[in-house]
Amino acid sequence: TGCKLVGCGSAVPSLRVTNNDLAKFIDTNDEWISTRTGIRNRRVLSGKENLTDLAIEAAQKALEMAEVDPKDVDLILLCSSSGDDRFGGAPVIQKALGCKHNPLAFDITAACSGFLLGLFSASCYIKAGGFKNVLVVGADAISRFVDWTDRGSCILFGDAAGAVLVQACDIREDGLFGFDLHSDGDGKRHLISTFKENETDDDASSENRSMTSFPPKCSSYSYLQMNGREIFKFAVRVVPQSIEAALEKAGLVGSNNFDWLLLHQANQRIIDGVATRLEVPSERVISNVANYGNTSAASIPLALDEAVRGGKVQPGHVIAAAGFGAGLTWASAIFRW
Ligand code: ACO
Repeated sequence: TGCKLVGCGSAVPSLRVTNNDLAKFIDTNDEWISTRTGIRNRRVLSGKENLTDLAIEAAQKALEMAEVDPKDVDLILLCSSSGDDRFGGAPVIQKALGCKHNPLAFDITAACSGFLLGLFSASCYIKAGGFKNVLVVGADAISRFVDWTDRGSCILFGDAAGAVLVQACDIREDGLFGFDLHSDGDGKRHLISTFKENETDDDASSENRSMTSFPPKCSSYSYLQMNGREIFKFAVRVVPQSIEAALEKAGLVGSNNFDWLLLHQANQRIIDGVATRLEVPSERVISNVANYGNTSAASIPLALDEAVRGGKVQPGHVIAAAGFGAGLTWASAIFRW
């Protein structure tokens, strides 16, 4: 069995926040943000909007493009690190779409690499047999846990959802050619939002401590904490190697053997650095980071959807994609649209 991408969709919140809007409450300016990151605007969830609604809208659009009935969906993978419910949101998408025969639906948490790990998982489920139509949704609202007083991180992120439908096909039509997947817990400390323990009495003996801290108070997670320089260096180092490895698995080594370079939209300077190392000219690089910032697991399907609907990516085009981020995790995929 082969598998191919047959539809895509995306959705963003209505509130647009410009660099000048940010400069009203933190010590920054449009010039600094746009020259260091390429970002000019981002969308941020507000009012009654929630992330699941964006994910549902993106998934619906992908199904419409693919002309696939929701009841024919067998698996929904929601790639997200910032969902509306810690127990996962994929089954909510399943209910909202009206997938009546209860397909499998669950979440994958791998930050900005999440979408490509979802794509790989979709291909594994299809190739293992029994799954024909798999929705892979990337949705994140990092605005929920950035520290809006930390100018080194809050300027980077935006909220969005993107989706693709992956369909089983004859092996001769196979459109997912090669993957390269990695993680490195050593670099975890460079990008975290960890569970905050309740205050405990440090002087208490360990035997007592368990009783003095019981029952636990409702705790929360810390703000996103990031070492931007380390993440930057990591991305520019590993992503070109990873794309080359995926191209080799696909039998497509060489920068002229694919049509488009589509990276996780974290920072225009990272995108440019990787493109230069791979010798891909800017005309063949997909980028919309200026308008949406870093939307984590949503960024690749959001940029893909815009490029497909805008007529850049045409049927038959081959795309080299890579995601990278917290974990640390990084993943590349070569696929045909
Ligand atoms: N406005 C104005 N000045 C600022 C701002 C700002 N928003 N932010 C930092 N500065 C200042 C710093 O205080 C520093 O000043 P100093 O020299 O007086 O100390 C100076 O600018 C340089 O700061 P750096 O942090 O060294 O700037 P750098 O060029 O590294 O750019 C940035 C920072 C944009 C964060 C960059 O490192 C980056 O993009 N890194 C990648 C981050 C990333 O992509 N993270 C997401 C990964 S995906 C995921 O999994 C969620």
